[in-house]
Amino acid sequence: MVDATAVQTGVTNLIRHCATVEPGETVLLLNERGALDTELAALLEQAIAEAGGVPYSLWVDSLGRVEELPAPVAGAVLGADKLLMNCNLNRAVLLDHLRANGAAGLVRINNRIRAPEGMTTPHAHFDWRLVMALAHRIEERTAQASTYRVTSPRGTEVTGRVASGSEVADAFFVQDAEMSRSERVFPGEVYAPIGSADGNGVVAFDHPGMADREQFHNPMLLEIRDNTLKGIEWREEPSRENQKDDPTGNTVWTSVQLQHLLDVSEARYGTEAAYALDSFHGGFHPKATKRPGQQSNQDVMHFHIGRTPAPLSAYVSDQTIELDGELFWENGRSTLLQETHIREMAREYGEEI
Ligand SMILES: [Fe+2]
Repeated sequence: MVDATAVQTGVTNLIRHCATVEPGETVLLLNERGALDTELAALLEQAIAEAGGVPYSLWVDSLGRVEELPAPVAGAVLGADKLLMNCNLNRAVLLDHLRANGAAGLVRINNRIRAPEGMTTPHAHFDWRLVMALAHRIEERTAQASTYRVTSPRGTEVTGRVASGSEVADAFFVQDAEMSRSERVFPGEVYAPIGSADGNGVVAFDHPGMADREQFHNPMLLEIRDNTLKGIEWREEPSRENQKDDPTGNTVWTSVQLQHLLDVSEARYGTEAAYALDSFHGGFHPKATKRPGQQSNQDVMHFHIGRTPAPLSAYVSDQTIELDGELFWENGRSTLLQETHIREMAREYGEEI
């Protein structure tokens, strides 16, 4: 049995603190058929109505790979005051459509929770305004930084300069600036990537990735010289039950798979771009836990290999990050959580951090 009160707490956090629904606003819910629980959809509609808003639900199939929005969806999004996405949607296609219609400022909320149980976790309950405050502080710190050093217990030790020109980071920032905070992710996600230049050292890629957070017996050691991947050291691991080829590169179980993905990237973008150390980032949500399919937790980060639109990820756990010689992250925990302003906000919202 799911605890109805606990579900409501998560729903309220989403509708009141993240979506900030105001009286009179129309909110279009794009609900993925077969993926979003119908009971949760009803609760979201009810919470919107209780906040004084007017909910309209549209049930859609996955739009993650579409190149054009279906006409009824394209029309509906332009007519809403806010968009609550409970579906897999191609963000770039949506943004293009909004831009073309002078509506790039439309507030859209990307809700990652698809079932009532998901609303009962400390992750979903944690006041979203505090998530935003943290995101802003991270942005301020990283924008000022000029050097970085990343280390981890499994053997990562990389130093470099913070680069402004990073394919991934730039794409992220352009989109972000364009959206001018008009896209919100619930219950919280990764921070904007930090670009890398003159990177040197070793990245200890210590677990397969998104689908599998269990650590390797021996991490894959990626040798980085002149901001470029120069070598991979790997000891064969016992094969795992869930192991398969993942063409997206979100999860990589062996060095053979990694090399194959690098070969594909090289054929498409050239050697220099494919092997460049582009950038890195991680989750920052204080209550998100390490589990497959999520990267909001603050004790995991990844480097992007490839100055390309489709970089590969090399995952590192329990990272320590220094920016200009000062601790930014320590053993998988953000040092920003100790800042007075953040602590005061946490107290005000009744959150333990
Ligand atoms: Fe990333």
